[in-house]
Amino acid sequence: MIRYVFIAGALAMFSTAALAADCSMELGSDDAMKFDTASIEVPASCDDFTINLVHTGVLDKKIMGHNVVVTKTADLQATATDGGAAGMPNNYVKPDDARVIAFSEIIGGGESTSLTFPVSKLSADEDYSFFCSFPGHWALMKGTVKLVD
Ligand code: CO
Repeated sequence: MIRYVFIAGALAMFSTAALAADCSMELGSDDAMKFDTASIEVPASCDDFTINLVHTGVLDKKIMGHNVVVTKTADLQATATDGGAAGMPNNYVKPDDARVIAFSEIIGGGESTSLTFPVSKLSADEDYSFFCSFPGHWALMKGTVKLVD
């Protein structure tokens, strides 16, 4: 009887893990101005998707600040340029920028933050990117965001 319950429980856990999409991911960043991944896949079955940004460095956010901004790839450069001009008080994102799908606050070494956005904001036939909008960082700190089945 005890053995049966254990096996049934293990099977239930396994099938749940196989069916449920992971609606969050961890994105690492560091003092070398780098993210630890170049692509983020967002399961279409998720209602919301969360990116947990971790800064594993030690430098202050005024020197090596990082955030995550999600836009269409075609909007990346102009959004980053306008964001740089908006300054730290705005987390280097132009206020009410309609091109910005989601963004997080700027963090420094040893800190972490997260952003959550509705997956309905992404369309399968559009190219999206994520990047850090701290001035000068987007050229290195960027990658693709893709809606996947
Ligand atoms: Co950065």
